Amino acid sequence: MMPYLPAAHRYDSMQYRRCGRSGLKLPAVSLGLWHNFGHVDVYENYRAILHLAFDAGITHFDLANNYGPPPGSAEENFGRILRQDFRGYRDEMIISSKAGYHMWEGPYGEWGSKKYLIASLDQSLQRMGLDYVDIFYSHRPDPDTPLEETMSALDLIVRQGKALYAGISNYQNKEAEEAIRILKALGTPCLIHQPKYSMFERWVEGGLLDILEREGVGCIPFSPLAQGLLTDKYLSGIPTDSRAAKPHGFLKETAITDERLRQIRTLHHIAQQRGQTLAQMALSWLLKDPRITSVLVGASRPEQLADSLRCLDRLAFSPEELAQIEAVLTR
Ligand SMILES: NC(=O)c1ccc[n+]([C@@H]2O[C@H](COP(=O)([O-])OP(=O)(O)OC[C@H]3O[C@@H](n4cnc5c(N)ncnc54)[C@H](OP(=O)(O)O)[C@@H]3O)[C@@H](O)[C@H]2O)c1
Repeated sequence: MMPYLPAAHRYDSMQYRRCGRSGLKLPAVSLGLWHNFGHVDVYENYRAILHLAFDAGITHFDLANNYGPPPGSAEENFGRILRQDFRGYRDEMIISSKAGYHMWEGPYGEWGSKKYLIASLDQSLQRMGLDYVDIFYSHRPDPDTPLEETMSALDLIVRQGKALYAGISNYQNKEAEEAIRILKALGTPCLIHQPKYSMFERWVEGGLLDILEREGVGCIPFSPLAQGLLTDKYLSGIPTDSRAAKPHGFLKETAITDERLRQIRTLHHIAQQRGQTLAQMALSWLLKDPRITSVLVGASRPEQLADSLRCLDRLAFSPEELAQIEAVLTR
């Protein structure tokens, strides 16, 4: 096995953005390990993706207890590569994990109780071989647990030094506002919100981004490429190596409707006119908003990540381009 030495120029081309009004900066493009890093995946491939990411100045790696499959295996595999290749570079990395979705049997294996969050983070740290994560998230709001309990678990975790910052994910406007208020009162400000946001999923524009800006909380959209729909991947059918074709993929073939394909083809054409791939344009379109701290992409091959990273070459849009895109999205 070839030893890995990080590129000397790794900080030359990435842009770093302040996360809300915190002291932390994140790379404009971050890498998520939801798919493609589990035990079902190919070690050499995901190792190469991680190398490419770090060499390109991606300092932020996003995980969760349940990423795999099987659940937990993405953290195990990431931990192995941390020990093997990134030893000595921990202080150049922002590593996040989360708890909220189903992880183990019984009443303490999911949602938002203090019992679950504390136990789950201990398991995550063990799997990754870490003393602490940089960001720990409540992965989803729990309708049956008082928000005070979930937020005080995050506060405790930060005070114990098991995470440096607290975050929330998948919280709607009212829940997010309340969580941010509770965390502030506890003395552990909410660093960041991780919502689903892409050209095809725009609920955050209905108030959440305003709340986050007002409260000084960062925003890191997940699935910014709509799991691959906002790329050239599905322009002419469903490739066998695509997420939509994989049995454990979360993108279902039924999401690829004729109407979606018409939109994708038109957006692809607009991207070409801008001198970008559709993936690049979809990411630039999110990053044009200064309230977006970072876009959290996935990749099944190093080449995809290299392609996505070039979104940074062209972040600006003319009013005409924005109008053209809006017409496609709201048709
Ligand atoms: N908080 C939450 O609840 C939550 C939920 C979901 C995700 N997330 C986070 O967000 C991260 C990203 O989510 P995601 O994987 O759905 O993001 P995404 O960036 O929308 O989709 C990634 C997929 O798009 C395809 N792709 C990526 N770049 C491409 C390119 N340049 N050209 C062609 N195809 C490309 C690949 O699909 P193929 O595999 O088909 O090649 C890749 O696996 C996750 O890893 C996770 O960290 C969080």
